[in-house]
Amino acid sequence: MWFANMRRKLLLGNWKMNKLSSEAKEFAIASRPLVQKAKENNIDLGVTPTYLSLAAVKENASKDMIVGAQNVHFNDHGAFTGEVSIPMLKEFGIDWCLIGHSERRTYDNETNEKCNAKIKVLIENNMVPVYCVGETLAQFEAGQTKAVVEEQVRVGLKDLTSLQVKELVVAYEPVWSIGTGKNASTEIAEDVCKFIRDVLRDMFGSVADEIRVLYGGSVKPENIKAYLSCPDVDGALVGGASLKIDSYEALLNNIL
Ligand code: 13P
Repeated sequence: MWFANMRRKLLLGNWKMNKLSSEAKEFAIASRPLVQKAKENNIDLGVTPTYLSLAAVKENASKDMIVGAQNVHFNDHGAFTGEVSIPMLKEFGIDWCLIGHSERRTYDNETNEKCNAKIKVLIENNMVPVYCVGETLAQFEAGQTKAVVEEQVRVGLKDLTSLQVKELVVAYEPVWSIGTGKNASTEIAEDVCKFIRDVLRDMFGSVADEIRVLYGGSVKPENIKAYLSCPDVDGALVGGASLKIDSYEALLNNIL
């Protein structure tokens, strides 16, 4: 289990439904020196491949590479066709998992309550949830960003203790900025990430200052530095720009 230091920078690539296992393996091998470079600079580096590529990445990347799943079921076994459980991930040494990504909320009816159930069992199993929150374009335009995000955080993290949320990561990804090239301004990113930390402080006290809050949504090598210069943005969750090793390397180089 990889325990993070106090708010080390975190660069996490979310591969979504991309890459064959053979391509994932190739990336994993090529990423080894990057993970070393990141470590020397106090940065955590990771990716979330598809289930079918988890083993290839885990086996071929540096042991310090964070390898996470993109989803998990909250039951450990049973009649849940198409699902994968925590013991199945742990068998492969996977100890991180995205929860509540907006694409799962949109296409797979992932509710805040379901996220809460998943986050609880992940934490009980000493795994690190990366809890994704963010408003839709309609909600943004209606000025509801903070109300939506607050509800996602309060319900998604309900009944957890301050001790349990220490390793948790929260990712703010405005839905309108994902894959659109319309990235949120650094002012918006900082404002909402700070707001998330304030909600976390209200719920869990001073441990909120140890929880990493990431920004995600059209992060590219050209803009990553600006986001990570914001005091409450501790890293980035990157989709498209994390898929090619050159671009992934450029993301890292630009925050060293
Ligand atoms: P893009 O970086 O492709 O906009 O995707 C962001 C994202 O959804 C990461 O989880």
